[in-house]
Amino acid sequence: MADDDKGRTTLKPVERRTFLRYSLIGSVGVGLGGFALGTLGMLWPREGDGLAGEVDLGDARELIEEIENERAPMRIPEGGISILVWDPSSSSAMRAYGDDHAIVDDDHGLMAVNSQSCPHLGCGVPWCQASQWFECPCHGSRYNRYGEWTGGPAPRGLDRYVSFIDDGRFIVDLSQELTGPARTANALEQPPEGPSCV
Ligand code: FES
Repeated sequence: MADDDKGRTTLKPVERRTFLRYSLIGSVGVGLGGFALGTLGMLWPREGDGLAGEVDLGDARELIEEIENERAPMRIPEGGISILVWDPSSSSAMRAYGDDHAIVDDDHGLMAVNSQSCPHLGCGVPWCQASQWFECPCHGSRYNRYGEWTGGPAPRGLDRYVSFIDDGRFIVDLSQELTGPARTANALEQPPEGPSCV
């Protein structure tokens, strides 16, 4: 992580990839020390506490390529977010997301959803590669590839953050969280593409 000449936090790709490894090591360490830490546990920083304000998440076209190749949103644990690709050529998507989410070209946009906190009761919401949906393991709320509600007790889609493109870079403003789309929003109209993970 580094600050650029605009004062933004920049996250290098290698940091994204290695973070999960470090998180695992850290989790084991935290687990072993958990009993001793006892009441200090509440002070332990959660995922998502590591970034704030405007964050430069990298070259927008490279992000799109990686997300499309992996067929999975790119998780940024430090920000508690997942980056996904959306399609501005869809009029319903453009109406719903064009004002507040990054547009890269006629057919590609990027958005950052809060996948750390399910709008139901706040559980983390992992990506399910089989169904190509986000699926909450706590009470079964599900969200399509745009983070739109598709089922379960959650009152709305995943919350998200304002984002934009600056000089080809994807910038997410973590100080501007947007309430997730209403249950009735379904710009993507994506059925599950395989079995559920929960
Ligand atoms: S916390 Fe996600 S469905 Fe309850």
